[in-house]
Amino acid sequence: MNLITARDIRVTYGGVAVLDGVDVEVAPGEIVTLVGPNGSGKSTLVKVLLGVLRPDSGSLSRAPGLRLGYVPQKLHIDASLPMSVTRFLSLPQRQSGDRVAAVAARTGIAGLEHQQMISLSGGQFQRVLLARALLTDPQLLVLDEPTQGLDQPGEAAFYELLEQVRRETGMGVFMVSHDLHVVMSASDRVVCLNHHVCCSGTPTVVQSAPEYRALFGYGTHGALALYKHDHDHDHSHGAPADPAHAHDHDHDHDHDHAPGAGHAE
Ligand SMILES: Nc1ncnc2c1ncn2[C@@H]1O[C@H](COP(=O)(O)OP(=O)(O)O)[C@@H](O)[C@H]1O
Ligand SMILES: [Mg+2]
Repeated sequence: MNLITARDIRVTYGGVAVLDGVDVEVAPGEIVTLVGPNGSGKSTLVKVLLGVLRPDSGSLSRAPGLRLGYVPQKLHIDASLPMSVTRFLSLPQRQSGDRVAAVAARTGIAGLEHQQMISLSGGQFQRVLLARALLTDPQLLVLDEPTQGLDQPGEAAFYELLEQVRRETGMGVFMVSHDLHVVMSASDRVVCLNHHVCCSGTPTVVQSAPEYRALFGYGTHGALALYKHDHDHDHSHGAPADPAHAHDHDHDHDHDHAPGAGHAE
């Protein structure tokens, strides 16, 4: 039985469909990676799966009593607010020292407990976010571009850790990534989204190829070649036609057009 099953999900904003006819599911112990261009609806789908956004239509079913953990894309911590790692891990729920220590060991942040959150490196910070999500002992962990801002070795290390935690706990993982090389390294199944599901399947064929080893963690060309053929429609709202897949930043293009700025005089 799946941990979570979404069927025929449709979400519209202002009459425009951001998700349409989307099916996705995660089985226990499975790592499913969602890839797709900027603005393709990945974060929207995550919100639907988390239950914080109600789709216009479609169905969502969860295993009874499903425990969900969530690792956000980023989290802003006010620099003027003292916040140690231990304190952060005890929010919103107080945790026993033993539990914190166990999770810290599992996520490789042991020894950092008394540091201030704002003093952590990007990689350490993401591990702390992961640790906090693991404190709820999730059966399904959902991550939305969790390695934003990390360099490639940092990313590779994070996904390796995730794989290891998955092995140890048997949890299912649903993660969004814009980094296609990650697809090659740490997924059981890849779902490629561009408002609808363009393609999905196992990356095993690619993983068994000799090029895979050479590619791991360094460059996206192989992965890109695999998936780009299915991006069959553009997302043209005046943006230059660039291969958004290859970028590792600026995916939150939720900018407003300044009111009144659009008419020529
Ligand atoms: N709350 C919202 N209101 C209106 N439009 C939104 C909202 N959230 C997202 N969108 C739009 O929906 C599209 C998909 O967004 P998102 O799911 O964040 O894409 P991705 O995570 O793949 O980059 C984008 O065009 C975005 O601007
Ligand atoms: Mg997003």
